[in-house]
Amino acid sequence: MRVLGIETSCDETAAAVVEDGRRVLSDVVATQFEIHRRFGGVVPELASRNHVVQVVPVVDQAVQAAGGPGAIDAVAVTSGPGLVGALLVGVQMAKALALAWDKPLIGVNHLEGHLLAAFLGETPPAFPFLGLVVSGGHTSLYAARGFGDYQLLGSTRDDAAGEAFDKGAKLLGLPYPGGVAIDRLARGGDRMAVKFPRPVVKGADLDFSFSGLKTALLHWVRQHGLPSGAGLSDLCASYQEAIVGALLQKAFRAAHRFELPRLVLAGGVAANSRLREAAVEQAAGQHGPQVILPAVRFCGDNAAMIAVAGTEALARGLRSGPTLNADPGWRLH
Ligand code: KG4
Ligand code: ZN
Repeated sequence: MRVLGIETSCDETAAAVVEDGRRVLSDVVATQFEIHRRFGGVVPELASRNHVVQVVPVVDQAVQAAGGPGAIDAVAVTSGPGLVGALLVGVQMAKALALAWDKPLIGVNHLEGHLLAAFLGETPPAFPFLGLVVSGGHTSLYAARGFGDYQLLGSTRDDAAGEAFDKGAKLLGLPYPGGVAIDRLARGGDRMAVKFPRPVVKGADLDFSFSGLKTALLHWVRQHGLPSGAGLSDLCASYQEAIVGALLQKAFRAAHRFELPRLVLAGGVAANSRLREAAVEQAAGQHGPQVILPAVRFCGDNAAMIAVAGTEALARGLRSGPTLNADPGWRLH
């Protein structure tokens, strides 16, 4: 079964063909990051307009590289959550192709796509597992007990982990997207140089909060001035360590409490080198869950993960009809 995945929920126009939900036959991602960079974040109107320009060539490239339209058995598309105008472009493209080719269509939740990205790796996770989805818009813990069976255990009260990176980077005068810049500068920096507060969320100890951390960084910079050279590296390493520490503390707590033997990282922030390293180190140290890391190229937004989620949904008999619409606020339980 060869599924064409289409993803346009934010600032990446992506298409991929995946066989049997595991083997990537083609994978095309056209990023708009140059367009949004000078605004320091994604501008929804510009994102939609650029998806319209990119979506046909990107899909065509992915389909041709996988053997042409005759090789495709079904179409999967991100139909939420995300920017509504951006989602509509992919949804409309997918509906048109499914109609023209007379193939099944399935609308996919973007977060389920992220959760299942690890299935594209050499050792796909077995259920049940704890999924930590960390991206620019989401920071959530899921107990995944089967395809389509996800229980939300905790999420952020304010900023997402990716936003904590991006807003922190902006404050330090670093280029967008900030997570990549902080990750790079933090290498070689002293993670203990600056002590940042560990966020406490009253009442719900599997929820996250990152806004206090951003404020603490702002205060530090006001007090000490903007550092450069080694000082900037130290500050980035310390700030990154505070985010990573908070993420892993809750993830390990949830895995332990819900007796989930595996921890799967997902989302753009799962590309962070320190998060990947610390997850493996801490799991080994605490006899914690087995840590499964998706390849870096499948952490950020891509369409291969959408094809995986689509394949599994189709296998369960799910289908979307020709009236499929974008659902910008679609929650994954
Ligand atoms: O999953 P994604 O590509 O898009 C969303 O669905 O949001 O995630 C984007 C986020 C951005 O906030 C970006 O700064 C962050 O992922 N990110 C990183 C790294 N690479 C991307 N954060 C920390 N370290 C990285 N290496
Ligand atoms: Zn995403």
